[in-house]
Amino acid sequence: MDIKIQIEDWNKELENSSAEEIISFFTSHFNEKIALSSSLGLEDQVLTKMLTSLSPKTEIFTLDTARLFPETYDLIDLTARKYKTKIKVYFPNSKDIENMVAEKGMNLFFDSIENRKLCCRLRKLKPLAKALSGLDAWITGLRRDQAVTRTDLNIVEWDENNGLIKINPLINWSEQDVWDYINKHNIPFNPLHKKGFASIGCQPCTRAIEEGEDIRAGRWWWENPDTKECGLHQK
Ligand code: ADX
Ligand code: SF4
Repeated sequence: MDIKIQIEDWNKELENSSAEEIISFFTSHFNEKIALSSSLGLEDQVLTKMLTSLSPKTEIFTLDTARLFPETYDLIDLTARKYKTKIKVYFPNSKDIENMVAEKGMNLFFDSIENRKLCCRLRKLKPLAKALSGLDAWITGLRRDQAVTRTDLNIVEWDENNGLIKINPLINWSEQDVWDYINKHNIPFNPLHKKGFASIGCQPCTRAIEEGEDIRAGRWWWENPDTKECGLHQK
C-alpha cells in the first residue's frame, strides 16, 4: 500500500485511541525499527514512562547539542535510572562545530536567523539524521497546541526530511493533561519548569516566560513565532 494512504488509514483508525494504545500499536508494528526521541521535556517524560512499561526494549535517544542546561543533563541520568532504561545520547560532529565556531563565533545564533538555523542544523539535525538511520519510525512529544506551527499535525505523519514515519501520541493533549499525568505518576521533570521555563531547549536560546505568555515564547525569543522551529519538525 502507498505509505501516504497507509498513514491516512492509521490516523482514522487511531483517532480515538489513547496515547498508550498508539504506542503499543506502533511498537509492535515496527518492532525494533522505532525509537522515542526525547528532549527530556515534559511530554517526553510522559512518553518515557509509558514506553518503558509498554515496550521496554524500544530505544530512547536524545540529542545533546552541547549547549543544554545542566538541569537537563542531570535529568538524563535520573530518568534512565528511574525507569531502568538506557537513553542513548547523540553528539554533534566535533569538526562541524569547530569549523562553525571558528568562522562565526560561539554565540552566532544571535546574529541572524541564518546563523541560528546553521547552528541548529549542525547541533541537532545532522545528529538526528544519524539517530534515525535504520529506523522506520520515530516517536515524538509534539502537541498541536504548542505552537502556531503545529496546529495541523496528526498522530501519524510522513517525515519528508528524514524519509520515515513520525508518531505523535500526545498530539491532542493539553498542557494541563501533561501536568496531570506527570503529577499522578510522580514522573521526574526538569526543575526549570517550576522557574518559569515552559519549553526547554538549548541554554542560550531558551528563557523563562512571564505569566500569560505563549508556552514557546521563551524559545528563540528574539525571532518571530512563525520562524521558531529548529528544523527537527519542519515540513
Ligand atoms: S524543538 O524543535 O522546538 O526543539 P520541542 O522542544 O518542542 O522541539 O520538542 C518537540 C519534540 O521534538 C520532543 O518531544 C522530542 O520528541 C523532539 N526533540 C526536541 N529536542 C530534542 C532533543 N534535543 N533530543 C531528542 N529529541 C528532541
Ligand atoms: Fe544552536 Fe540555539 Fe539551535 Fe541550540 S537552539 S542548536 S544553541 S541555535
